[in-house]
Amino acid sequence: MNFITKTNVKGKIILLREDLNSDVDKGKVLMSERIKESAGSIKFLKKKGAKVVILAHQGRPDGEDFTSMEQHAKLLSKLTKVNFVPDIIGEKAETAIKNLKNGEAILLDNVRNLKDEFSEEDTVFVKKLSSWCDIYVNDAFSVSHRSQASIVGFPKHMKSYAGPLLEKEVKALQKINLKNCLYILAGAKPADDINLLNKNKVLACGLFGQMCISATGKELGAQDEYLKKKISDYDKLISDLKLKLGEVGGLVKTPVDFGVKGKKGKRRDIDLKDFPVEYEIFDIGPKTQKIYLDEIKKAKSIYMKGPAGYYLDPQFIKGTKALLTAVSKSKAFSLLGGGQLNEAIDRSKISKKKFGYISLSGGALLDYVSGKRLPGLEALGYYKN
Ligand code: 3PG
Repeated sequence: MNFITKTNVKGKIILLREDLNSDVDKGKVLMSERIKESAGSIKFLKKKGAKVVILAHQGRPDGEDFTSMEQHAKLLSKLTKVNFVPDIIGEKAETAIKNLKNGEAILLDNVRNLKDEFSEEDTVFVKKLSSWCDIYVNDAFSVSHRSQASIVGFPKHMKSYAGPLLEKEVKALQKINLKNCLYILAGAKPADDINLLNKNKVLACGLFGQMCISATGKELGAQDEYLKKKISDYDKLISDLKLKLGEVGGLVKTPVDFGVKGKKGKRRDIDLKDFPVEYEIFDIGPKTQKIYLDEIKKAKSIYMKGPAGYYLDPQFIKGTKALLTAVSKSKAFSLLGGGQLNEAIDRSKISKKKFGYISLSGGALLDYVSGKRLPGLEALGYYKN
């Protein structure tokens, strides 16, 4: 794998894949660690005299947080100037790229607007951008578990490098030993978590915890409707989970109570035995927190992915904060991952120094931890054989 930090890039047009995927609250993209850290890489390349063309995504085409990248350019520009170009492979993009001067950066629009992003073939998208730019840099470790064109397509056609953030992430992870690890699996993307159900103890929370409960046949009520809408491969995931929990269910702890949004939007804690209920779930309840905290105290090493609930609302950050506080106090080495968990740590006001290593990656880190080869790293020649 070649590193861009060790390369002369003066005057070169760099196609830079960043992960700027962040929380979106009522249409507003929120400043995030990913945006801040990516700005660091962009600044570095600009300073070295490169012309930087940034490719990134926000959300998924069927999701509520699927938006253009215009706000991301504004947020990046608070840290280093980046102009937004509302185009990816059309004339506007081509002209903007051709007009770039050394030390300037542009951000193209949401790469997931293009069907080509999801195609395994050599597409117009890859052909055009690889002919307009000189070198490709993947700085998005956190998307490197996706076989998508902006991650694996360009290295087939261009000289390719690992970006500063990806370099930092990979080098830090290579040093980590996660033997006998306790996995705290949460967050909003439960399909990613199933790969880690094997020999280790698991504390399931977030949407994953709810899906594990649904897989046992227990009805949750209003939350079942939410999960069916939110999770595109809901039925498949339930049947995969049924199978997996049949094999290793003894190692997986699931919530025994939940924080729901009751009447007038106020938090109420309800025991699992009293479900199904007409309220949606926003957090794990206090009884679950206690059980999980006892497990955290006993752990030798800990991997935590994603927040336990809807941490953007102070009423529902409680579960996540309780788990994070316990992990921060534990003597065990801790590895934490996921864009949202990074934000939750900030909002919980816990010093980042209290954790072993905090990664910007959620699903990619999980695949890495479970020993899977990441297609994005493979494309950069990371694996020796
Ligand atoms: C993430 O948020 O983990 C990355 O941006 C990847 O997003 P995805 O799960 O939608 O591919």
